[in-house]
Amino acid sequence: MNDKRYMAIPPGAIIPGCLPKFKIYVLSSNGRHTLWARNGNEVSTKQITMLANCGPTEVFIDLEEEIKYEQYLETYLGNILENQGSSDEQKAAIFSRVSTNVVKDSFETSLGLGTMNMDALRRTQSLVKNALIFIAESNSLQALAKMIGHDYKTYEHATKVLWFTVAFLRDNPDVLEQIEPDYQAFDEVQKKEILKQCGVGALLHDIGKAFVSPKILNKDGPLTAMEWEIMKRHPLSGLAMLLDTETPAFVKKAVLHHHEDFCGGGYPMSLEGQNITILARVLRITDVFDAMTSRRPYKEALSPMKAAQIMIGTPAENNKLEDGSGQDDRDQGMRLCFDEQLLRKFIQFLGKVSYGM
Ligand SMILES: [Fe+2]
Repeated sequence: MNDKRYMAIPPGAIIPGCLPKFKIYVLSSNGRHTLWARNGNEVSTKQITMLANCGPTEVFIDLEEEIKYEQYLETYLGNILENQGSSDEQKAAIFSRVSTNVVKDSFETSLGLGTMNMDALRRTQSLVKNALIFIAESNSLQALAKMIGHDYKTYEHATKVLWFTVAFLRDNPDVLEQIEPDYQAFDEVQKKEILKQCGVGALLHDIGKAFVSPKILNKDGPLTAMEWEIMKRHPLSGLAMLLDTETPAFVKKAVLHHHEDFCGGGYPMSLEGQNITILARVLRITDVFDAMTSRRPYKEALSPMKAAQIMIGTPAENNKLEDGSGQDDRDQGMRLCFDEQLLRKFIQFLGKVSYGM
C-alpha cells in the first residue's frame, strides 16, 4: 500500500447527482484504499447514505486527479454549500479552497494583460453568487473563526475579506442602502445582485497587486521607501484592470478607494470622509481586521478583541501594523483611518456572531 497516492477529502464534497470525473476511495478495515466510485460514475443518494452510516470522516482521491477534484468543487460549489448533510466547517474549508484558487488564477492570468482576464472575472462572479447564501445566511462566520490566526496569504486574505464584508453587509441593510439608495425598493433578486457585486469588490480589492513584484508582496520585513511607493500604486492598477469590464461603478470606486483614510491621509488621493465611497470604507475595516488577526513571519496574529481595540483607538496602540494589506504604520493608532460609525457597527456585528468578542 502506498498512501502517497491518495489525498483525503471530506465526504460532504461529494454530491448526489453531480458527476465526479475522478475515482473515489474509502479506507477499508484492513487499512487499504478501496475503490468506492469509479471514474465518471454518478454517485447516488443511496451510496452517500451508506457512506454516512459507515461513518468515515474522509474519503480519498488519487493525488494525480487533484486538478479534476478542484474543477469539480468549483463547478458544483453551489450544490456543495447547500448540502444539508455536511457541516459548516467542511463547507467553509471547501469554499475557502475554491475561492483561494479563483483569486490566485485571477492574479496570475490577468498579469501582463493590463486588464482583468474576462474568464477569471466570470469565475469570480459565479463563485460569489454560489457562496452568497452560505456566507450571508448560515453560521458560516463561526466556521471562519476557526481560521483565525492562520498565516497571512494574499489569496486567502481576499477570501476572508469577502466573507467578512458580505456577512457584515447582509446584517446591515442600512449600509447597503447607502451603497444603493434604491436598495429597499429592490426585489430579492436585485438585492442579491447588489450583495454579490459587493462581494466581487471585496474579493478583487487587491487585484492591482498583480502588478507588484512577489518579492515586495511577500517581503518578511518592513518595506523600503521605494518599495512602499510601488505598493501604493495597487488601488490605481486595480481600477485600471476593471475599467473596461462590466463591473458596476461602485465596485470600481471601492477598489480605487480602499486605502483612503476617513480623516484624509490615505492613498492614492487623500480623500476624506464621505468623499470615500461607502463600500471602500467597509473594505478599509474588513481588510485591516483580517490583516491584524492573521499571523505574519514577523508578528503574531492579534485576537479579534485586541484588533478591535486598536482599530477603535483604545488605548496603547503599540501593536501597529507594519505592512501588508493592513499596511498602515500610524503613530497615533488606527482610529482615524476608519469611518467610526461603520467601525462600531462592524464590532457589534462581530459580537453578534460570537466571533471571539
Ligand atoms: Fe490593498
